[in-house]
Amino acid sequence: MIDIVEIVRGGLRLNPSLLAADFANLESDIRSLERVGATILHLDIMDGHFVPNISFGVPVVEAIRRVTELPLDVHLMLSQPEEYLKIFRQAGADLLSIHIEAVSDPRPLFDKIRKLGALSGLVLNPPTPVEIIEPFINDCELILTMGVMPGFGGQSFDIGTLDKLRYIKKIAKPDLLISVDGGVGDKTIKDCAEAGANLFVTGTALFNGELEQRFKHLNNLLKNE
Ligand code: DX5
Ligand code: ZN
Repeated sequence: MIDIVEIVRGGLRLNPSLLAADFANLESDIRSLERVGATILHLDIMDGHFVPNISFGVPVVEAIRRVTELPLDVHLMLSQPEEYLKIFRQAGADLLSIHIEAVSDPRPLFDKIRKLGALSGLVLNPPTPVEIIEPFINDCELILTMGVMPGFGGQSFDIGTLDKLRYIKKIAKPDLLISVDGGVGDKTIKDCAEAGANLFVTGTALFNGELEQRFKHLNNLLKNE
């Protein structure tokens, strides 16, 4: 299971999103990420219903689990996440994140995730007011703030996300993982760090060039924050 304390202690961390990887050569991209020092991987699961796109599912998560020991942060963009928690945990997920827009009360799902031995996360989309997640902030290990409407990589970062990150940072317990996902790259990553994020999901900005160099570059931007 993910050692959350270690991740938080490790400081600001890139969280590569494999949505932008070369699906014909996933293992090779994962090896490159391991070599250059990635500490976690972000996997985007889309059902074509909660979001207008379909990405990949359980067999691909299983296949990734077979080739790496890195913690797998599985972002469930699903209308009915409760139906799929166990199967993704069995496939190898260490952290399971659900959208607040998909459930009325996330707490029963957090309980289920905990019983499955994984960590839980709560995600909110750009139009969703941050106050809506406030009652649940101490019931999960990660808050994932979307910088774009979920469904596709390569979109522009919604600047209003920074205020949400500031607010979450202000009310967060010290070991909360505060993640940001979508449109995080050269121009936005430092602002996200200054606003309080400690885990940075990066797809396009990482895979749009030589992978190891791009990782080092984005990591340096974080270190010089
Ligand atoms: C979007 C996904 C993201 C996506 C981010 O629905 O949740 O994780 O991979 O992609 P970029 O970094 O390209 O915005
Ligand atoms: Zn994601």
